Parts: sequence; C-alpha cells; structure tokens
Amino acid sequence: MSDRVPLVVCGAAGRMGRLLVALAREDPHLAVAGAVEAAGHGAVGRDAGEVAGGTTLGVTVGSDLRAICRAEHVVLDFTAPVAALAHARVAAECGAALVVGTTGLDREQDVALRAQAARTRAVIAPNMSVGVTVLTELVARAARLLGAGFEPEIVEVHHHDKKDAPSGTAIALGRAIAEARGADFTRVGVLARQGLVGARTPQEIGVVALRAGDVVGDHTVLFGGLGERLELVHRAQSRECLARGALRAARWVAGQPSGVYSMRDVLGV
Ligand SMILES: NC(=O)c1ccc[n+]([C@@H]2O[C@H](COP(=O)([O-])OP(=O)(O)OC[C@H]3O[C@@H](n4cnc5c(N)ncnc54)[C@H](OP(=O)(O)O)[C@@H]3O)[C@@H](O)[C@H]2O)c1
Repeated sequence: MSDRVPLVVCGAAGRMGRLLVALAREDPHLAVAGAVEAAGHGAVGRDAGEVAGGTTLGVTVGSDLRAICRAEHVVLDFTAPVAALAHARVAAECGAALVVGTTGLDREQDVALRAQAARTRAVIAPNMSVGVTVLTELVARAARLLGAGFEPEIVEVHHHDKKDAPSGTAIALGRAIAEARGADFTRVGVLARQGLVGARTPQEIGVVALRAGDVVGDHTVLFGGLGERLELVHRAQSRECLARGALRAARWVAGQPSGVYSMRDVLGV
C-alpha cells in the first residue's frame, strides 16, 4: 500500500469520477485515498467504491477537499469550472499534486487555474487520452509540412449531455495548428459560421461542434488543399481511455518538480 500513489478523486459520483475510482482500485500502483462531491450531493457520506458501482472500498465520499487533502496526495479533478478552481487552490495550499481534466473554463478561470497549479505540480489537459495527445502532435506536424496552402478545419462530435462547446480538445487542436503556422488562435479561430459570412480566408481555422446521442468524443482535423485533402481522425470508443490517461498522468506527476504540465509532457513527446 505504501508505494501506491494515493489519489483523491473530486467529482467522485460523476461519470469520470466513478470510472477513475473503479480503475484506480484495480491498479497495483495506485490507491484511492479520498473522494469528494459537491456539498448536498446524494453521494456524500456513502462509500466511494459503492458509488462507483463496485464493492465497499472503505473511503467515504466527503464534501470538503481541505479536510482530506495531504501533501502526498494527487488530487484528480473532473468536476465543473468553479469547483476545479477551488480544488486547485486547496491542492496548492496543502502541497498536493494535481490532475485537472475539467473543461469549459473561460479565459479568466483558465489563467487563475494555471496560477494555482503553478504553485504545485500539476497536469492540466482538456483530453487525457493518449491517442488524442499523439493526434495533437501529428496535427501540428501536418500543419507545418502542408503549409499555408492547406486550410485547416476541425469537427468534433460529443454526446448530447456535454455542457461546453466546442470541446476543450477541439480548441487545443486549433491552438496547436495556429502555433505551428505562427498564428494566434484567438485571432484566427472561427468557432461558428452562419449566414452571409463571405469567402473563407486562408488564415482561418474553423471549428464546428456537433452533439448527438451517446458519442464519447470524435475529433477530425481536415486540411483542405486544391485537388486533395488530408484528414486526421481520433474516435474515443469509451471513456476508459480518458480515465486511464488521467491515472497515467497522476502516477507521472506525483514524482515531478513544481510546474504545470500537459499530456505531451506525460508521454515525453
Ligand atoms: N480531460 C478529459 O480527458 C476529460 C474527459 C471527460 C470529461 N472531462 C471533463 O470533466 C468534467 C466532468 O465530466 P463528467 O462527464 O464526469 O461530468 P459529470 O458526470 O457531470 O460529473 C461531474 C461531477 O462533479 C461534481 N461536482 C460539481 N461541483 C463539485 C464540487 N464543488 N465539488 C465536488 N464535486 C463537484 C458533479 O456533481 P453534480 O452532479 O452535483 O453537479 C458531478 O458529480 C467536465 O468538465 C468534462 O468536460 C474531461
């Protein structure tokens, strides 16, 4: 038990939180040391293993991270923007490492989150999947190789319950393309088109969000040239790839010096 990395799962009754608890308890390198839900949530006071759909784990879901958090913990946050910020502050104050998967933060929240995270060691990634991390690398490489003559567009598809649009992953892909083209995504990203928008400018990076059924998460990056196009596609078949990536990040970040890291750092690419 002592060489296991102790985790505190925030949002333990959520879709990702339940999966994280279920997978972490089976991992010989990890231990679920704590679980947190929003005050008033029906899971508070219940056993985290049972909330995750398994047997009793001996960890009670609490509602106050501060009361649980220790410097040796890795805090995993898959909750909501305001909660993620609060959890990052607590983790930084108690010296715990942090893995944040929560998306949908606005610019101000993102800056505040990164400032808190920089006080400790943290991985922040809008998509924890190893496949998407490699896709991001390939997309940046393709943008550099194809050059300005190829026009990038991003299409993402997610389940009908997803709250934010476009996905944090689509934005991260857009940023990677912009960076590879020496551009600023906040200037060249076009997050929606409607009506008489006129011809597409060569600098644009379009992003379209589709919502349907139970799609876990598809991302397609299309580079349109003249007479040809290149498409790079990632499809998540289940949320397991996201949870497994987050647990890999947790194991990795536990041994790192202070700093804010990405999944690229976790994979060493
Ligand atoms: N980076 C990635 O790879 C990745 C993968 C999947 C999802 N995500 C993101 O992770 C977040 C959660 O996704 P999900 O699908 O698991 O959502 P979800 O099923 O809605 O779970 C979120 C959980 O967090 C809880 N929560 C809200 N505020 C809280 C607080 N202050 N303290 C503790 N818990 C709190 C929610 O409780 P209530 O039900 O009471 O609100 C809910 O149980 C979203 O932002 C999503 O986009 C990221």
